[in-house]
Amino acid sequence: MPDVTKLASPLDVGGVRIHNRVFLAPMSGITDEPFRQRAHAHGAGLVVSEMVASGELAKGRAGSGLRIRHSGLPVHMVQLAGREAMHMAEGARIAVGEGADIIDINMGCPAKKVTGGYAGSALMRDLDHALSLIEAVVGAVDVPVTVKMRLGWDEGALNAPMLARRAEQAGVMMVTVHGRTRCQFYQGTADWRAIARVKQAVSIPVVANGDVGSPAEAASILDQSGADAVMIGRAHYGAPWTAGSIVAAALAEPVAGMPASPQALGDYVIAHYEDMLTLYGVESGLRQARKHLGWYLDRHAGGTSDDRRKAILTSFEPGRVIAFLRDMFSTAPEAANLRSAA
Ligand SMILES: Cc1cc2nc3c(=O)[nH]c(=O)nc-3n(C[C@H](O)[C@H](O)[C@H](O)COP(=O)(O)O)c2cc1C
Repeated sequence: MPDVTKLASPLDVGGVRIHNRVFLAPMSGITDEPFRQRAHAHGAGLVVSEMVASGELAKGRAGSGLRIRHSGLPVHMVQLAGREAMHMAEGARIAVGEGADIIDINMGCPAKKVTGGYAGSALMRDLDHALSLIEAVVGAVDVPVTVKMRLGWDEGALNAPMLARRAEQAGVMMVTVHGRTRCQFYQGTADWRAIARVKQAVSIPVVANGDVGSPAEAASILDQSGADAVMIGRAHYGAPWTAGSIVAAALAEPVAGMPASPQALGDYVIAHYEDMLTLYGVESGLRQARKHLGWYLDRHAGGTSDDRRKAILTSFEPGRVIAFLRDMFSTAPEAANLRSAA
């Protein structure tokens, strides 16, 4: 069993002190302010905004401001996506103006609507262009700049070590590597050992990412990759405490802020729901909250009847949803055993 204690130690990223080495991954449509607040409160060392299109930000488009808004956390990290150096630089300046302590550049998103515009992981097909964006952002702001990437575009082009080395030379202070290629999307399993080639290519911190959900997996990805920190995404579905629970396990401590009873979990889910309604307004908030409610129900209230589940996930009346949730969680046997669920 690899050593887990390293996970709880601090990490310096270009002069910004990160409290521990277990991070929440940026996930568009999921890691908004209410979610990041919760992950942080449970003990995640670092949380990152959902990606923000730099062009939208530079043009002042509605919605993008919400994504970069400072949520009062000790380290505010904003992720930018885009392909125009001018917009990336301007987006970075705007984000720093809003209090960003770190700017991350997205070079890993596989979605066609992003790569179709030659942003996200498409940048790994043209490292000179990728570097021009990195240089523009590094030149535009005084805060540390980081890059999140995949192993490469496909098996025939595993150029993450080259991109990471050139990024470091351009002034980037940390890189995160998802151990898949763009063409894998989310299929197969993440190759943790392949991340080691990036670690060997640079001297800045490397964050390993992909398919981690438990303390043993977190320790294992660090062991196999030699990386300095771990970033966790989908294992947070219905469990914003996942990163925090891994840090807590490394310290042999209880998880901060963990709901301790089925009723407390019900209150927790309802508070998350209400925070989303407040952030987005009721009409948009209740739609956006449905995926979270579905995950909470699936993970902690598996006995919910199909009718009840459908009522919760389709209702347009927040009062009704809240009453159902209170009822479901107070009677759910799984909710009584939250620690093992985490
Ligand atoms: C729904 C969803 C949205 C995502 N959005 C982003 C994003 O905005 N920026 C980014 O760099 N990666 C994004 N990712 C990728 C994750 O950050 C992470 O690299 C990937 O999910 C692998 O980690 P995991 O196996 O721990 O989930 C997203 C992933 C998912 C599933």
